[in-house]
Amino acid sequence: MYYKLICQKFEDIFDQIPTLSVRAPGRINLIGEHTDYNHGFVLPAAIDKAIYFSIASRDDQTCKLYSYDLQDSYEFSLEKIGKSDKGWANFLIGVLAETIKKGYTIPNGFNLVFGGDVPLGAGLSSSAAVESGMGLALSKLFDLNISKLDLALIAQLAEHNFAGVNCGIMDMFASIHGKENSVIKLDCQDLSFQYFPFHAPNYTIVLCNTGVKHNLGDSEYNKRRAECEEGVKIMQNAFPQIDSLRDVSAQMLRSQSDKLPYVVYKRCKYVVEEIERVTIACEALERDDLATFGQKMYETHEGLSKDYEVSCPELDFLVEHTLNSPLSESIAGARMMGGGFGGCTINLVKTEIVDAFLETIKTAYYHQFKLELDSYKVKITNGVEEITDIFENA
Ligand code: GLA
Repeated sequence: MYYKLICQKFEDIFDQIPTLSVRAPGRINLIGEHTDYNHGFVLPAAIDKAIYFSIASRDDQTCKLYSYDLQDSYEFSLEKIGKSDKGWANFLIGVLAETIKKGYTIPNGFNLVFGGDVPLGAGLSSSAAVESGMGLALSKLFDLNISKLDLALIAQLAEHNFAGVNCGIMDMFASIHGKENSVIKLDCQDLSFQYFPFHAPNYTIVLCNTGVKHNLGDSEYNKRRAECEEGVKIMQNAFPQIDSLRDVSAQMLRSQSDKLPYVVYKRCKYVVEEIERVTIACEALERDDLATFGQKMYETHEGLSKDYEVSCPELDFLVEHTLNSPLSESIAGARMMGGGFGGCTINLVKTEIVDAFLETIKTAYYHQFKLELDSYKVKITNGVEEITDIFENA
């Protein structure tokens, strides 16, 4: 539906047919949170919520951008690329700027319309979807042949330099490399990856959106990253060979506990445990052992809440509800997902009780916080791609 709306809007505004259109999905992450920038493992997947782009080149150096969702436009010249005072435009301009910095040539300007159904601020990486889609749209429009890995690296740099968040690579990597019905085990140390079939035929992945985004988000994120780096720096005194928390075992960490400030110790402890958990969770997935997988998700939540301290009362409430609910035997696992301080929880719920689960959790959430709980049943899809079949993607 969205794809058609974006194409139509493009024709209305620019009075021309778009040269091409692109779909760029949001992502979920099954397990492996705050491990990407510590060179650990993550287990994300692209989902059936996406940002759509329609684009065509122009004869001059002007770039005209239109956000369908915000009904707002922005225009600039290729000769003068810089940050905009419109936050949404910076994600697109950032990708353009980083693409050029990497040595690709953008010969002329373009018209572009984008928009989609990845909810904002819900921890589903709408910004990474925008960046990944923009990268592919430019690559296809100007025959740049940018590799998937470069698209992800360009998107990450755009986020660092134009949005001011020192994010890891997970979100854009997932949006770009997603594969239908598979999760991606990504090693953030060397960016090698492996697809694992997500085989859970009787289960549905349900996201519960707290509807809150405590605005500590970005600054606390950068702070966690700095705390992990501080931990590595101190531990290098005893272990000069280590480069990141990926190289630190639980035993090495314990041996240095009296050298690390308590908060830094807790942060490092969570990360070291979480990196190990992803490997155990993947092994469980391979033997279709969803019970163990789900147990690891609960452990992740506990660590994120108590040691890493990036949860919030709303997220904790939703996860606790799954444990205390009479339906808990039909819920394999639940945890907060993404950077934290709001956004969604991810729940693995037996398909036959999803409706009952949603009814009880929505009532309980409203009762507690006087907030409506949005929810999404998601499917795992392919990553960013050019839309070639109008009917398939309509
Ligand atoms: C955000 C960042 C990612 C990752 C997660 C936490 O989504 O963009 O790089 O660090 O938080 O796992």
